[in-house]
Formats: sequence, C-alpha cells, structure tokens
Amino acid sequence: MTLLDRAIVRVLPAVPRGLVRRLSSRYIAGPALEDAVRVVRELNADGKMATIDVLGEEIHNAEEARGIALAYHRVFACIDDKRLDANVSIKLTALGLQLEGGVCREQVEGLVRDAAMRGNFVRIDMEDSSTTDATLDLYRRLRADGVDNVGVVLQARLRRTLGDVPGLHNVRLCKGIYLEPPSIAFEDAEEIRDSFRRTLTALLDQGAYVGIATHDETLIGHALDEVRRRGLRREQYEFQMLLGVRPERGDELVRGGHRLRVYVPFGTHWYEYSIRRLQENPKIAGYVAADTVKRLTRL
Ligand code: FDA
Repeated sequence: MTLLDRAIVRVLPAVPRGLVRRLSSRYIAGPALEDAVRVVRELNADGKMATIDVLGEEIHNAEEARGIALAYHRVFACIDDKRLDANVSIKLTALGLQLEGGVCREQVEGLVRDAAMRGNFVRIDMEDSSTTDATLDLYRRLRADGVDNVGVVLQARLRRTLGDVPGLHNVRLCKGIYLEPPSIAFEDAEEIRDSFRRTLTALLDQGAYVGIATHDETLIGHALDEVRRRGLRREQYEFQMLLGVRPERGDELVRGGHRLRVYVPFGTHWYEYSIRRLQENPKIAGYVAADTVKRLTRL
C-alpha cells in the first residue's frame, strides 16, 4: 500500500458526494432494484452471469435485519420475473449476526428456502475476521441440515484459510478485502497469492465447486492452467469479478468458453458503501484513482 493510497483515503470524506457518486457509478448498479436489473440484463446479454448484492448499512435491531432479508426476497422474485441469470450475495452482519435470538439464522434459512423453491442460490460473503467462525459455522450447519443451494467465501489473506477447506462444497475464493493484523493475515502480496493457489488446489482436490474471484492476472493464469490440467468441464467452476473491474478481461474469459459471474451491488446506501470499501482497503482507492486518471487521459 503506497503513501498515495493512504493520502487518497484520508481526503475522501472531503470529496463532494456528487464526485464520489460519479467515481463509484462504474462499481455500483445504482440506487434501485431496476438499476440492478438493467445492469444484469446487459451482463447476461454479454454471456456473463451475475450475483446481486443489496447494499445495506449497519443494522441495529431485528426489524432492520428483516428489512434487508425482505429486500433480498424481492430480488429473488425479480430474478424469476425478468428471467435473469443471477443469484444473490448476502452479508450476515446485515441479517443480524450480531443480534441475539437466532435472528440471522432465521433470515438466512428463509432466503435459502425461497432460493431453493426458485432453483436459485445464496452466496454468503465473508466479512472481517471477527465473523469468520460464525459465518463458516452457519454455512456448515445449513449444509448438515441438507441445504445445498448455499455457498460461502474464503479469503486467501487469512493464515487460517487452508485449514478451513475440509468439508466445504461451494466456495468463492478471493484474496480478502479487509486489512487484518499480521498475526492472523499475510501481508506480502506474494504470500497472499501463494495462499490463494494452495487453497484453490485443496478445494479442487476435494471436488468443491469454486468461484475463482480475482482480477489478478497471475492468479487468473494459474487458475486457467489448473482448469486445463484437471480437464474440468465449464459447469464445474466459475470465474468471478466485481462490476466495473477489468471488464475486457471478463469478456476474454467468456470468449474462451469459461463461465463468469459479476458481482452487482445496488442500493440507496451507495455512498456509505463506497467510502467504507475504500477506507477498508486503501489499495482499492489507489486502483480507482489510477483507473479514473487512465480514463480521463484517454479522452
Ligand atoms: P488485486 O487487489 O491484486 O487486484 C488485481 C488488479 O485488479 C489490480 O491491479 C487492479 O488493476 C484491478 N482491481 C482490483 N480491484 C479493483 C477495483 N476495486 N477497482 C479498480 N481496479 C481494481 N472480499 C472479501 O473480503 N469478502 C468477500 O466476500 C468478497 N467477495 C468478492 C466477490 C467477488 C466476485 C470479487 C471479485 C471479489 C470479492 N472480494 C471479497 C474482494 C477481494 O477479496 C479482493 O479485495 C478484490 O477482488 C481485489 O483482489 P484481486 O484478487 O482482484 O487482486
């Protein structure tokens, strides 16, 4: 992480909202479900699948958690109605992970039931390390109860990750966006890549379905080699990317016969989401800034 990245993050709160909105508009579909529908339709027309994320801010009580769950039920109904090729990505803290009384589990069970009835799927995003155990635990309990239309996420950045692989069936593998202390996380870029490669091998060895979620050319190349070497059919894995990030590389993967799913966030909390993502990992602020400058100088 460079000094410039940190400097960008420090000045962020002073950046006018309108400008943040313009900068984030490539990465976020828009404030309303119709915005997500429009973006997913475009992606589907380009042969790309999607996963829809409802942007929510911190919730404080069960009612707010139920409100978020309801928004996801609406997304499922809309996916069906508009015949979109999309599933959803949820965050357990937005569904009440930190609340007492099983609120979170109740919401997630409702969502996986709704998804199952519609032949759809729920991906549980992975948040910061304080939630890793609870997230994996909920996923494992759902699978033990016979729920098979749910998947989880592993973060290569965490030192524990290889040890979390046994018993997982459907995993999105990413580097991990949250900056964690060195006692529990790799910091060196090459170590994170190594962890990603080792975890991918372990997951594929045990027959898991993997969503290979990276824009890192080295890791994409490695994953393509693994897919070829193992003779995997296209239904046995997928690549995943964030909306607005390296779309041309995504097109190439699709042209190469691979499946690609794009993460499509939408919601009224776009401002809080953008600022939070950028502050969580200043390196991302650097990418966005570099990308924006590249676009401006291309004009
Ligand atoms: P890296 O950060 O090295 O980026 C590689 C290249 O991609 C950069 O050089 C840059 O060109 C480009 N790039 C990457 N991000 C960019 C951005 N935002 N804007 C512009 N350019 C960018 N994390 C997590 O902790 N929990 C989760 O549940 C998820 N879920 C998730 C879903 C999907 C579909 C993806 C693709 C990613 C996630 N992530 C995530 C985020 C992930 O952990 C990671 O932070 C980002 O994908 C960036 O890591 P890369 O592997 O792309 O490498």
